[in-house]
Amino acid sequence: MRLISKAHRSHEKSRTIVTTMDNVKTVLEQSFKCVRVPPAKHVPNLEEDARNGLLSQPRSLPPKYFYDDHGSKLFEKICQTSEYYPTRTEDLILKQHAQDIIQSTLPSKIFELGSGSSTKTRHLLDACSETAHFPSYTAFDISESALLSGGTTLSTYYDWLEIDLLLGDYEAGFKNIPNYNESKLVLFLGSTIGNFEKPHAIGFLSDLRANMSARDRLLVGFDRVKDRQILNAAYNDKGGITAAFNLNVLNVLNNQLGANFDSNKFRHSAGYHMEKEQVEMHLISICAQQVKFDTLGTSIEIASGERIRTEISRKFTAKSVVDLLGAGGFTVERDFASANGYFSLVLAQPI
Ligand code: SAH
Ligand code: AVI
Repeated sequence: MRLISKAHRSHEKSRTIVTTMDNVKTVLEQSFKCVRVPPAKHVPNLEEDARNGLLSQPRSLPPKYFYDDHGSKLFEKICQTSEYYPTRTEDLILKQHAQDIIQSTLPSKIFELGSGSSTKTRHLLDACSETAHFPSYTAFDISESALLSGGTTLSTYYDWLEIDLLLGDYEAGFKNIPNYNESKLVLFLGSTIGNFEKPHAIGFLSDLRANMSARDRLLVGFDRVKDRQILNAAYNDKGGITAAFNLNVLNVLNNQLGANFDSNKFRHSAGYHMEKEQVEMHLISICAQQVKFDTLGTSIEIASGERIRTEISRKFTAKSVVDLLGAGGFTVERDFASANGYFSLVLAQPI
């Protein structure tokens, strides 16, 4: 789907968005605008990441490439599996504490990173409706389909809500996003921060901090260290949705780099490494095979049993939350932990 044009005036409905989907022009009546954010600093593109990560061993790829249209839909399905507890656990925390969070922060803008479908965000927006506090909302995500579907849903539920959608890579910095000169509540939910290696997470938080003022607040989700069986089950659901999500990255490589991966020749693997406090997800080659990349003008030989690491998902303790936020320039103001201790939603203040 490609966004061609959009117009927006706050508190007025019936804007026209013209989109193309499979060459069919669709006109939608909506009330938000979507802009592409140019990178503020260089981050490797898929071609560079594939050259750096796939052409030599150990092979790996950053997790942001999971989220093409199909991958974003698969992620939504993962969230509904009985095994994947993080979504429903964080959802309940938000439901229980949304009014408290809104009343103690009174943001003029809610600014969400990696918003996906923005489903959990609705608890905060419901709290805004209930307390007659009306901030605007900006979502920043790399997935156009997730952004547009989240924006569409929110615009149907909240007629007072002014919505801006920012399409881009938040790892490329925040200098090129509009300068919101108002108090912000920044959301980074889902424990997506756990998908960064520690130094990367510190760099990301520091970058975010540099673009926040002292009155702003960050609300960030952290999945906690727990029994390995619960973690292993969460990333190996019986319905095979997580496996499909993992394998789908091969289709992304085929579509965008002219590669010829056969997803039937790989299997999904995910497991918790207690000493590293992280789940690691891999694709394992089930035979010796050659894969070519037209765009890179090269091919690779993959041995049977060889692995491509596609994601890490770090798990946190109360101390590692405080330490990570501290290293990134934030101090913990409140820690809303779930009753079972599985997940923490932390309200953090810039130092
Ligand atoms: N916040 C939602 C979605 C989490 S999934 C939840 O808690 O359920 C991770 C989201 O981050 C996806 O929507 C994905 O498209 C987005 N994302 C991943 N890497 C990104 C990047 N580098 N820049 C912007 N968005 C990214
Ligand atoms: C988005 N992120 C926090 C999810 C996670 O749990 O690391 C992505 C995911 N990978 C497999 N299942 C879900």
